[in-house]
Amino acid sequence: MKNIDIIRYGANGEGVGVSDEKIVFIPYALCGENVDAKVVEENTHFEVAQLEKINKASLSRVEPVCPYFKVCGGCDIMHASISEQKVIKQQIVQNNLKKYANYNGKIQSLVVGDNLLNYRNHITFQVNENGTLGFYEKDSHKFLEIKECKLANKVINNSISFINSYFFDNKLKGYNYKTKKGEIKQVDLKFVNDCLLITFVGVVKELPNIDNLLVRLNCLNVKYGIYISYNDKNSTIYGELKHISGIKEIEYIDQGIKCFVSPFSFMQINAEIKDKIYNKIYELVNGDIIVDAYCGRGVLSCKLAKKVKKVYGIEIVSSAIYDAQQIAKNNNIKNVEFLCGDIKDMLQDIKKIDSIILDPPRKGCEKQVLETIMEILPNQIIYLSCASNTLARDLKILSENYDIKLVEPYDMFPQTKHIETLCLLEKK
Ligand SMILES: C[S@@+](CC[C@H](N)C(=O)[O-])C[C@H]1O[C@@H](n2cnc3c(N)ncnc32)[C@H](O)[C@@H]1O
Repeated sequence: MKNIDIIRYGANGEGVGVSDEKIVFIPYALCGENVDAKVVEENTHFEVAQLEKINKASLSRVEPVCPYFKVCGGCDIMHASISEQKVIKQQIVQNNLKKYANYNGKIQSLVVGDNLLNYRNHITFQVNENGTLGFYEKDSHKFLEIKECKLANKVINNSISFINSYFFDNKLKGYNYKTKKGEIKQVDLKFVNDCLLITFVGVVKELPNIDNLLVRLNCLNVKYGIYISYNDKNSTIYGELKHISGIKEIEYIDQGIKCFVSPFSFMQINAEIKDKIYNKIYELVNGDIIVDAYCGRGVLSCKLAKKVKKVYGIEIVSSAIYDAQQIAKNNNIKNVEFLCGDIKDMLQDIKKIDSIILDPPRKGCEKQVLETIMEILPNQIIYLSCASNTLARDLKILSENYDIKLVEPYDMFPQTKHIETLCLLEKK
């Protein structure tokens, strides 16, 4: 057992101390604390230790509100007050930008919303062999039954017990990937604008006795729609989609744009923070010809089309491009063009770009994408990232020709270690 003073935070929000001249990472320890910890992993330059006893607790330590905290692994930093979560996230971004991009400039303070719990409008649950909803435990495939997720919208939470009862009454079980027995693999729930969309992903094409579920869902007092996604392969990939009951899509106004959400649609999970980020991008964007790379359903592209002459939205998922084209059409937006394909192949075709918005997945931009941008040299790059380590890696390459003018982290995922970071780069 080691006695350690926690002096800073690591890349996953864990406490960091020094012992025997080695750095020690201690999950769930907070800065300023003195703890006893047991080493569980030894490496040449660092160790990982398990928190055993807090001798001196931080004033920022709070009681986590979730009974599944630590087991589920979704909320890594729920033991820290919101102001301390801000410190943790600020440090994560700062450390990554210094380490991987050698950036020592200003980082704006984390933009936080009002909704620190129940902010998720989209959750996918696993189903176990008894037909109950839950998640996998942290770093494992062990099933954990969940009665309520503190991050999920309340209507999503209220529907859990109804779906469990429906499964129980109709003897529907979770699919077992080893024995290949059972019917349902996952249940995907989206809640927007007082409408709930439920998609059952499974190896069956029909849902028995559906009225039994509808009667229960009526108690939620919201509009709802039910789909089944049939896929008999040993994976959770969505398959053939069949509408079972209720609304087919959720229609709503997002950023002044008439939108719709269907079972396949990607949605930013925290609408409040998404709005703040989109508004900031709208304010920053400059020029006539804009590329919204990794555009998803193209809501941001449509919003930006109101400010500039021409927007190209590029996205690899064809159903998202279909949605984007529909949304542009429904809003009579004519100066936006959506292109389906890999960014690395598509960028070369657009000769003049004044500003490019990059919103890649966690792995960041491929090298070839960055090289093409360095050839085209748009005046402005707006980079939105959900992983500040890959953001920093890419900024290092881009900063050869660009000055970093703004780094602004956003708390898109309160209670977790995850952060959304917005950067503005201008051509030197
Ligand atoms: C973080 S999401 C961004 C979504 C969108 N900007 C929004 O605000 O809703 C990343 C998107 O990039 C798409 N994507 C991933 N790799 C891609 C690639 N190589 N080329 C084009 N799009 C890609 C994904 O399908 C996903 O929709």
